Amino acid sequence: MIPESFIQELLNRVDIVDVIDKNVALKKAGANYSACCPFHNEKSPSFTVSPSKQFYHCFGCGAHGTALGFLMEYQGLSFVESINDLARSVGMVVPQETRDPDKPAAKVVVGLQDALQQAAQYYKEQLKQSDRAIAYLKGRGLSGQIAAKFQVGYAPAGWQNLQSVFPQYDNEALKIAGLVVENDQGKRYDRFRDRIMFPIHDQKGQVIGFGGRIINPEDTPKYYNSPETPLFQKGHELYGLFLARRAIRDVGRVLVVEGYMDVVALAQYGIDYAVAALGTATTPFHISKLMRQTDEIVFCFDGDKAGQTAAWRAAMNALPALTDGLKLSFLFLPKEHDPDSYVREFGREKFEAEIKVAMPLSQYLLMHLSADNPLQSQEDKVRFLNDAEPIMQQILAPRSAMYLRKKVAELAQLSTEEMQSLLKLPNLNKTPSPARPKLTRTTNSLHQRFCLTLMMHPELASSDDLAWLIGDSSNELLLQKTIAICLQNTQAKPVVIMRALEGQIDIALLRELEQALNVLDETLNLAEELAGARQQLQQLYSQKTDSALLIKISEKPLSSLTENERNLLKSFASKPKSK
Ligand code: UTP
Ligand code: MN
Repeated sequence: MIPESFIQELLNRVDIVDVIDKNVALKKAGANYSACCPFHNEKSPSFTVSPSKQFYHCFGCGAHGTALGFLMEYQGLSFVESINDLARSVGMVVPQETRDPDKPAAKVVVGLQDALQQAAQYYKEQLKQSDRAIAYLKGRGLSGQIAAKFQVGYAPAGWQNLQSVFPQYDNEALKIAGLVVENDQGKRYDRFRDRIMFPIHDQKGQVIGFGGRIINPEDTPKYYNSPETPLFQKGHELYGLFLARRAIRDVGRVLVVEGYMDVVALAQYGIDYAVAALGTATTPFHISKLMRQTDEIVFCFDGDKAGQTAAWRAAMNALPALTDGLKLSFLFLPKEHDPDSYVREFGREKFEAEIKVAMPLSQYLLMHLSADNPLQSQEDKVRFLNDAEPIMQQILAPRSAMYLRKKVAELAQLSTEEMQSLLKLPNLNKTPSPARPKLTRTTNSLHQRFCLTLMMHPELASSDDLAWLIGDSSNELLLQKTIAICLQNTQAKPVVIMRALEGQIDIALLRELEQALNVLDETLNLAEELAGARQQLQQLYSQKTDSALLIKISEKPLSSLTENERNLLKSFASKPKSK
């Protein structure tokens, strides 16, 4: 358990601009910073980071959050890891509120990372000592240099070798990290035995898992991977991405292949912008992750039947993520080859020449759709349309979609209009971007406006406000709490006040407020806005107090009224009726 007070202090200390800029290059734009949103695909920046609010917000997809939230979302870190990361960056030490000293739940995940890192180190050292493993890699043409670059290692044969690295072999972290396996009798043994080890890194270069390949051809399975762990989700990670990142940016292209060995071999031949999905189909998540790095994705799977199936699945998974700026193509290798064998046989130049003429997605789609369809009879054409419809339904990029529709219509011998009237296809007219709510008198209640401006200027909170701000509606509670927080910490950033409010007020109201804060126009004179809102509220409340008092007075026998109460009653009686 990390104390809440520490989290708030941390959020007040870090600068969200630094945190995000390390991951996504930010440009100054007025009071804020902006970039193309890393959480959805776009060509013009609608992602903004506010140094004064310490929040990020995307007008396009609505993504928003704190520095902490960003690390969790973007880097896929856990809550605790993100806290540790942030704390490290500003030199703070995370205190632990240990409830149960035997099992600090928060520590396990931190332990995972260390465990994986130490295991990787151990495997690397073991490789140096195994002539057999070295001979295997040499036999496959791997240079020592490239093995070192990818931190290739070797897990020796034997059941409990990791005991020499981890004296506490029964540590829970080892099991969660997938380094050891427990049998039904509760006995533990190493997951990876007598295997070439490929560490899998996250985007920060930290080891999050392993793939282990057999040396002995009789062993099965050929590759054995880490299980899904809190740090490692196969559908999200790409092997080699960390090492390839730089090259992908430089050449403006990423090559997606199937295997560990493909990535490594290609890198050895200078094609260092390849990554591999980890024994799973390429997921839409993979694709959007890659689209954050580049506009050109080339898929190059094995030439065999399995490779072809993988290619089609990758194409289908890419459809929803397509944009008109993205170039997606497919390189089909001869049946007997995978990228590893192909580059070794034909070399880099030939491989890159093939990349240049890889088949564009549109062509691949049409080729696949008409592969076993002669398109002769009316029935053929109907089937063709039926097959094409679900594919076209998923493409929202207007230009790409339109060209594909034209082509499909042509092949079905219809006009595009006829086809469109027949099929259920999405409207390609530019969808209007969501309206940006502004901080106006109508969209926010007076209470919320006062609250927002207070968050921006906590130093302007006044204890006097608490005297007139009575009542217990959710808006009143919100303001009372906000003022109290501001009075306690006049330097608090909005992000911290927001966090302190969490759990104290209605969550729906809090979310609404967060939205309003994100779009709060900082070019306004907020101190002035605050003063204005305060004045209007005071007026409102003085009326409220008056009428509340009036009701109270009217219930009393006249004789028991005080001087003040009598005067008040008189003044009300003489007040002109409004309207
Ligand atoms: P391949 O069999 O094509 O791997 O499987 P490869 O990299 O070309 O292997 P080599 O050349 O025979 O050494 C492609 C990928 O599928 C996953 C691995 O990620 C592998 O790299 N895979 C394959 C498994 O997870 N388990 C297996 O048993 C086989
Ligand atoms: Mn291979």
